[in-house]
Amino acid sequence: MAGEKIHIFDTTLRDGEQVPGCKLVTNEKLTLALKLEELGVDIIEAGFPISSPGDFASVTEISKLITKATVCALSRAVQKDIEAAGEAIKLAKRSRIHTGIGTSDSHIKAKFNATREEILERAIQAVKWAKAYTDDVEFYAEDAGRTDNDYLARVVEAVIKAGATVVNIPDTTGYCLPHQYGEKIAFLMNHVPNIDKAILSCHCHNDLGLATANSIAGAIAGARQIECTINGLGERAGNTSLEEVVMVIKQHKELGLYTDINAMLLNPMSRLVSETMRMPVQPNKAIVGSNAFSHSSGIHQDGFLKDTTTYEIIAPEEVGADSSKIVLTARSGRSALAHRFRKLNFEFDRNDIDILYEQFLRVADSKKEVEDSDLTELAFQHQKKALATA
Ligand code: KIV
Ligand code: ZN
Repeated sequence: MAGEKIHIFDTTLRDGEQVPGCKLVTNEKLTLALKLEELGVDIIEAGFPISSPGDFASVTEISKLITKATVCALSRAVQKDIEAAGEAIKLAKRSRIHTGIGTSDSHIKAKFNATREEILERAIQAVKWAKAYTDDVEFYAEDAGRTDNDYLARVVEAVIKAGATVVNIPDTTGYCLPHQYGEKIAFLMNHVPNIDKAILSCHCHNDLGLATANSIAGAIAGARQIECTINGLGERAGNTSLEEVVMVIKQHKELGLYTDINAMLLNPMSRLVSETMRMPVQPNKAIVGSNAFSHSSGIHQDGFLKDTTTYEIIAPEEVGADSSKIVLTARSGRSALAHRFRKLNFEFDRNDIDILYEQFLRVADSKKEVEDSDLTELAFQHQKKALATA
């Protein structure tokens, strides 16, 4: 594969599972973890072991089951959290502890009533504790999106010196604009002297609908890991959507990046997560929404029927979606109508279609979508009239 690899860190089972109503039991987590591994994710964030005995058990069982992906456990920069995380991942073939602390002035003052220097010390200490359990330690600078860049660079340098192999730069509140987030990553790439000893990770929330754009801006600026979830599930407005970042990278070859995700499994994975977590996917969701490959306006349908690439930049098969749909509504045109009649085995000439189109519009104005049964009825009535006048 040409270019540089972007590691996909899936946090559906941790940040995604924090969504109210999305709570999973261990068996459900195990099923999803196996499917995530099959999808090709590099790291599975399996849970937050200190948070509950159930989550500790889930991380433990996932660690025993997964053979290729790295299994990661979350912790705060607190010794007992790190011990629980280390204990839960101890049987994993590849294990990681993800530990960290808030670094923005807002978090330092409001959450910790501390100073920047105290937070720096706690960050270093947390990485050292985590290193006792695994070599692979990821540090997160929570609310890095709103953290002063000079201070953030000091934190990143210090945690790498303490042994962090990945440093996560979360836009926890989804506040950054894409160019700001990209500049933050570029700043760290250029101002942290030991940055070659670790990789930077993007973890962007979607409060302003910018999570995917920000993650891609981060990758363009040099981050080599993206944290994301299936269907963009996550705290509040959600996390970065895995299917979106993967397909942006795949479509835009000029970025010189690639992932190991098997894109054909994206739609089945999305459906499985939606069903298991009881969280429907919005129809207009990119890549995995039920309308992602539907065409309903006359102008689009006409172009699409002449050449699918006029209105589709991705073929549905490429992402494991059902084939493209021509939806008949009052905005559809004659070519879509004739196409659908042909699919139903009715062959009409241009005159017939002109007459049928007027009748079709009357039906279409009375309902949201015209079904095959409505068209069959129109076709039979039309044939009957034609026979009567013959
Ligand atoms: O959004 C965030 O900052 C997080 C951290 C725990 C990585 O989820
Ligand atoms: Zn998060």
